[in-house]
Amino acid sequence: MSARDAALRDDAPRTEAGSPSLHNRLTATRQLSAELARPLSDEDQVVQANDDASPTKWHLAHTTWFFEAFLLKPFLQGYRVFDESFEYCFNSYYESVGPRQPRAKRGLLTRPSGEDVRAYREHVDAALANFCANGDLPSAAQGLIELGINHEQQHQELLLTDILSLFAAEPLKPAYARASPGVAVAEAAPLDFVSVDGGIFDVGHDGEGFAYDNEGPRHEALIRPFKLANRCVTNGEWAAFIEDGGYATPTLWLADGWATVKAQGWTAPLYWEEADGGFMQMSLLGFRPVDPGAPVGHVSYYEADAFARWAGYRLPTEFEWEVAAGGLPVTGRTLGAGHLRPVRAEARGRGALDQIYGDVWEWTGSAHLPYPGFKAAPGAVGEYNGKFMCNQFVLRGGSCATPEGHIRKTYRNFFYPHQRWQFMGLRLAADQ
Ligand SMILES: [Fe+2]
Repeated sequence: MSARDAALRDDAPRTEAGSPSLHNRLTATRQLSAELARPLSDEDQVVQANDDASPTKWHLAHTTWFFEAFLLKPFLQGYRVFDESFEYCFNSYYESVGPRQPRAKRGLLTRPSGEDVRAYREHVDAALANFCANGDLPSAAQGLIELGINHEQQHQELLLTDILSLFAAEPLKPAYARASPGVAVAEAAPLDFVSVDGGIFDVGHDGEGFAYDNEGPRHEALIRPFKLANRCVTNGEWAAFIEDGGYATPTLWLADGWATVKAQGWTAPLYWEEADGGFMQMSLLGFRPVDPGAPVGHVSYYEADAFARWAGYRLPTEFEWEVAAGGLPVTGRTLGAGHLRPVRAEARGRGALDQIYGDVWEWTGSAHLPYPGFKAAPGAVGEYNGKFMCNQFVLRGGSCATPEGHIRKTYRNFFYPHQRWQFMGLRLAADQ
């Protein structure tokens, strides 16, 4: 097993109790970022393919800056800032911290060099080790380490999706990784629906363990009886939507969605290209034929909504999804599975849900809004999620690029309805 494979599989040293210590998890997380960047040249790591995506070098530096700005500077006595100018380069969106390099111009940062950024990571890692060596950390600092780990994990997924967007724009269509053995291209499990009774349910995070601020407060939600598909919508089903004129039928689309279809000239999911009567798709494994049994990915909220209407269904709400996920184990084909692409659902028998976790994030019909009683934390950390509660939609369940341990039932990812460069797919729902 290569070092990268080991890192992907979260083989961090474990304590006797069987759970890795905070410092061990921090170290493993920091190492995984470096491992994910290892297949890339320095040139690969500088460029951004569009305004939404960031260069790998920027991800590596920004996640490091996060620890420096929010943990080491305020908590580690005598900490020496690596380079004062890095704050401008690698602050993402924290208005309370100060001005920054515009997001769309991150790809212009040929300086600091890749070597400088690697030295920055070493400097901060050494300070983090020094800080954690003092076993008696204040709880606020422990909370910030936990947040920093989770923040870096989010950027690990973004690093992969952003590299995919870059490689898709390359004439040579390079592969980030080689296909893992043992994943057959085959039919998905037949589409089936699981019935869920209605009622008043507690939703949101219960406060046990880490969660982002937008997952709480836990509160009650009224759910009407509904049914949820046993698996995600497949590429094969999406091809039928295309063939049936889905992208050319305005009545299937929300007004904003149809305007986007026209303006962008969309005729298929992002990264699909028609070839020899079929479709090819750019992926982290290179340019390959579309796998009809695998979940469709890289579709926007607008497309997911139009597909559901075409199919005679709708998207689930985020609370329907959460209630249906119930007590299912939080396991699936996430980054640790090593596929680096969504793969077909298992046939699990009637009444069983597959692909709840991993493969593709699932668009829900729910806007990313504050839960009742939500209050953003004071200070810069309070900018984490609260200020993004406008005009975005919630996705649930994680993807094939979500790091191990970085998904849970109450996790609310969110993107704008036109965005589709993440591993975004959908699962159908209907009223009972
Ligand atoms: Fe960030």
